[in-house]
Amino acid sequence: MDEIAEYNKARWKALAEADALFTRPKLDLDYQTAKELVNPDQRFGDVKGKKVLCLAGGGGQQSAAFALLGADITVFDISEEQLVRDRKVAEHYGSKIEIIQGDMRNLSTLKQDFFDIVFHPYSINFVPDASEVFEQVAKVLRGGGLYQVQVANPFLIGVKQEDWNGKGYVLKEPYSRETEITYADQDWVYDKNENEIIPQPKEFRHRLGDLMNSLINLGFVIQNVSDNDSMHPDSNSEPTSWDHYVAFAPPWLTILAIYKPDLKF
Ligand SMILES: C[S@@+](CC[C@H](N)C(=O)[O-])C[C@H]1O[C@@H](n2cnc3c(N)ncnc32)[C@H](O)[C@@H]1O
Repeated sequence: MDEIAEYNKARWKALAEADALFTRPKLDLDYQTAKELVNPDQRFGDVKGKKVLCLAGGGGQQSAAFALLGADITVFDISEEQLVRDRKVAEHYGSKIEIIQGDMRNLSTLKQDFFDIVFHPYSINFVPDASEVFEQVAKVLRGGGLYQVQVANPFLIGVKQEDWNGKGYVLKEPYSRETEITYADQDWVYDKNENEIIPQPKEFRHRLGDLMNSLINLGFVIQNVSDNDSMHPDSNSEPTSWDHYVAFAPPWLTILAIYKPDLKF
């Protein structure tokens, strides 16, 4: 295991122990709320019986939702503590969830040319080179399969609410490939009145061109790019508030692509 993997394991162990937002399993879902969580606009069609990989998606949120919708779900994640949550939701809903521990940069333990959908929640910025992961996804996804990946906004990663200077949110980091970005956890991530989580966040900038070109070169055809899903931007709200900040600096993009191996360069 390299330094990146060790860091990510330690970080997600600490986050799970602090009951951080992304580590809380969803134990109160029904069919409707499950659909709203993972397939609100039916972009994946009816997922019943489809083979879905929840990539670096442990924690018992998306796995629970897909299982309730009748998908044949596999969760792959580096963190044992996160996967414990997926076991918990499987038990809770009486669902079968395949659970596999590993690093998203190596998916050789998964069946190749197999999944109909790879659902990849926010995590790719925890590794320096996104293309390594995309190459692995191309191996496990069947031709015609869908890949949804959420990425940090390439231009704004590292800009936080507290970077408001009275006029705008200040950009301090150069727009360069694989730049390591560290910052304090946002207040909503976990209860900071308890002990501060060590290690602190560490992420990597992926440039927009690199992300897009890497997907395109592998044969992914972009279907949709969304830059404000599940946010409520409000430029009239209090500067430094979450709604104000996301109105100026949308933190994430969600990319949906269909895999067409014949179009690989
Ligand atoms: C923000 S969470 C995303 C999933 C979560 N279910 C959610 O709702 O947001 C990020 C996940 O990425 C996982 N992770 C971090 N680095 C990883 C790596 N190199 N390979 C696989 N999983 C990784 C973490 O363990 C964590 O579960």
